[in-house]
Amino acid sequence: MVWEGAKCFLFVPLFILVTGENCHFSNNISIVEPLTEEGALSVAERIDCHPEPDVSREKCESRGCFYEIVEEEGGAPWCYYPTGYGYMMLDEPAETHDGYMVHLRRSVSLPMFGGESQDLWVQVFFQTDNRLRILITDDKPRFQVPIEIPSLGGMPSNPEYTVSFTSSPTFGIRVNRRSSGELVLDTSLPGLVFSDQFIQLPIRLPTGSNLYGWGENEQLSFSHDMNWNTFGLYGRDQPPSGATNMYGVHPRLTILDKNGDTAGLLFLNSAAQEISLTPMPGAIYRTIGGLLDVYIFLGPSPESVVQQYTGAIGRTPIPPYWSLGFHLCRYGYDSLENMQAARDRMVMYKIPQDAQWGDIDIMERQLDFTIDAERFGGLAEYVRVIKEEGVRFVTILDPCISIGEPNCTYKPYDLGEQFGVWINKPNGEPLIGRVWPNDPVYFPDYTNLRTHEWWQILIKEFHDLIDFDGLWIDMNEPANFVAGDLNEGCAATATNYPPYLPHVRIDDAKNGLADKTICGDAVHATGDHYDLHNMFGWFQSKPTLNGVREATGKRGLVLSRSTFVGSGRWVAHWLGDNFSNWSNLRASVIGMLQFNQFGIPFVGADICGFIDDTTPELCSRWQQLGAFYPFSRNHNGLGNIEQDPGFFGEEIALITRDALNIRYNLLPYLYTLFYSHYTQGSTVARALWHEFPQDNLTRTIDDQFMWGSQLLISPVLTQGATSRNIYLPPGSRWFSASNFLDWTSWKEVDSGWVEVDAPLDVLPLHVRGGYAIPLQVPAVNTALSRSNPFQLVFALDNNGRNGEARGELFFDDGDTIDTVESGEYLLTSFMYNKDDEIEYIVHNDGWSGANLLFIEQILVVGCPDGVSSITVNGDLHSDYINTDGQLIISNLKLQLNQPWIIQLE
Ligand code: GLC
Repeated sequence: MVWEGAKCFLFVPLFILVTGENCHFSNNISIVEPLTEEGALSVAERIDCHPEPDVSREKCESRGCFYEIVEEEGGAPWCYYPTGYGYMMLDEPAETHDGYMVHLRRSVSLPMFGGESQDLWVQVFFQTDNRLRILITDDKPRFQVPIEIPSLGGMPSNPEYTVSFTSSPTFGIRVNRRSSGELVLDTSLPGLVFSDQFIQLPIRLPTGSNLYGWGENEQLSFSHDMNWNTFGLYGRDQPPSGATNMYGVHPRLTILDKNGDTAGLLFLNSAAQEISLTPMPGAIYRTIGGLLDVYIFLGPSPESVVQQYTGAIGRTPIPPYWSLGFHLCRYGYDSLENMQAARDRMVMYKIPQDAQWGDIDIMERQLDFTIDAERFGGLAEYVRVIKEEGVRFVTILDPCISIGEPNCTYKPYDLGEQFGVWINKPNGEPLIGRVWPNDPVYFPDYTNLRTHEWWQILIKEFHDLIDFDGLWIDMNEPANFVAGDLNEGCAATATNYPPYLPHVRIDDAKNGLADKTICGDAVHATGDHYDLHNMFGWFQSKPTLNGVREATGKRGLVLSRSTFVGSGRWVAHWLGDNFSNWSNLRASVIGMLQFNQFGIPFVGADICGFIDDTTPELCSRWQQLGAFYPFSRNHNGLGNIEQDPGFFGEEIALITRDALNIRYNLLPYLYTLFYSHYTQGSTVARALWHEFPQDNLTRTIDDQFMWGSQLLISPVLTQGATSRNIYLPPGSRWFSASNFLDWTSWKEVDSGWVEVDAPLDVLPLHVRGGYAIPLQVPAVNTALSRSNPFQLVFALDNNGRNGEARGELFFDDGDTIDTVESGEYLLTSFMYNKDDEIEYIVHNDGWSGANLLFIEQILVVGCPDGVSSITVNGDLHSDYINTDGQLIISNLKLQLNQPWIIQLE
């Protein structure tokens, strides 16, 4: 640890009132240092001292800040802090057993929003070699997010960071990367504020860095535009609309520095909050509750940041194999016949489908745990039929429970009353909202263990009614069609109407934070809604997964709309109520990449779009991209034209079928990527810069992405396009494989920027040299495809006899819970080595089903022609073709769980 500044810190206030240009003395403000010309921050470095609307000179100066109108457009603040605004150290940082503790005193006396804390304690925890935690709090009781992130409990031996403290002109912490010396972040800036309902931490980021992350908002570029953009977070039932807060809350950033090293930041806080990005480059963090709890993950590679992050907050268990197939859904089937008709079209065109979904229209008057006897009377029987065909069923549950059902005969309500599961008003009575069925409802308090019990009983009984395999939890921001309590709204208190509102959407100012949701002062078993709002979906997720598992005895799938830090442990996520337009198609790539960084890799957007009518062209392109969402579901909103893949006729049906056949061919690879996520924390879908962080050209590419390290996907995202420009990072060999199933069409291509043909039936795909991919012959669902022959593809990294390629395969029965823990799985690796041998190694042979599965074909691309003989485990094998830099070996029968070696001469 280094620390800068004088040895002794005395609190010597200077009484200075600072105005725009001149300073004069007053008795009611103390600033450590008067602003001097040299000490002044440039416009780009200014920190906004009046982040709420309607700034004026008077209001600004009453906070002790400078006011200056900035003429040029762009959002630079007119009211900004003088350089010494913040806190000063009262003493030297004290060493603790795993870091440092610093005592601070506020150096300003004028308030911003009231309740400013005079004394703060900063704790710096050296948690592991690559994780640092900075905790800043005062001496008041404050809400702490109930997520435990364990640390080593002592000083790590070789930390990849150094920490220094600055004392002048205001307190700050600077973190540098030890290996390169490069800055990670620096809080030595004016504007640290810590008060009852406003906490702010300004951060300087490294020069020349790119910043990613933060959500859930619709982001139109993955690498942030740092020109004064603010993104607020407060869980909200909100279709994508730019920076507006949406369903989930992930205060998580990634910094890619100029050397290609990456660091992750997590602000572990569950109140309404925001980040303002400035061209300094800087990020001003603001929250209205809890405390400052910042975790820094040092990487240095982009993948290692996600691995470290998910190592701390938890990872997604391996999903059921079937759930990696294609899902078909819509809101507004309106009758079983219409649902059947959509599925029949899938069958007619032989389009793969693994799950049929039901939305609230299958319910009786949109009541949870019911089925409409008239319109969906035969549903349970239909589910039995499709399950025999190998297709699963998933259905929806909304979190709230109708309270007005006749004669008190609605069990979810009756049992809820008995168990006392509701969120209450401060007076102890349940808060009443209005959500589906658009009648008065109570909100279950999922922070209460009694509520888990209640919810799981209902799930179990519902499963007796209909044999679902997974559940979809919606509206869990929680959404409310009225603001606050149906009869009373929310009391006029600071909890419901905080003095500062982060940039979150409020349609009607009189609603305050309760706009479209419930009051901040509503009472949960573990605290106020003010602090728990953003975790509503998080708290509902685990009991729902437990309920599905208890009911089905299987791994199960839960899809949640609202998520928070660590929700990936229990749920997949879809990007919500998107629009059927090209811009939403494009933004979905960024949303998918974001959630992979957030530790929720099982993610996708509603294919073909949810709101408004789609078009055949848009839907085709969306089905192609959606075939490469980790979670692949076509879902449509009420009242729109049908958009299931068969609806638009043969051309679109076949385009969809081709795209999904490629997905199904790749499922063993996708499944193995989920295994890598679960065991190591890797992303499944990732940006090019995750694989090529040293290649500056990749930093801003967000319309292409990769599955793992091996496969590059370059979807067409523009209306009318029949070709597109793609980037293939130099330094790797690339093989175009758009016609994936026809191996003879794969060709090596030049790297760099290239224009590729992409007529409506083509999705550009490229395989990267140096890697091998496990495949399985596709079928119309995974129940069938899982017994098909396997194939291995090796894309060599070097032309000539030195080429290599490696890959791995994870496989199990696809449905049993915790097979990694029990060892009931197959894990193999395979490699084409420099001696022109292909070796297959079995690392774990714990699943007996592998006895019945065989690898039947192998493709090697990028190899020299002229193979004169092949032996398999020493025996000559004559079924091969070696031409045009390709080798295809056929008619193999290599048991999936037996080691083997193939030698080429
Ligand atoms: C919400 C969901 C949407 C669903 C609808 C009806 O808008 O986001 O997916 O179809 O509710 O349940």
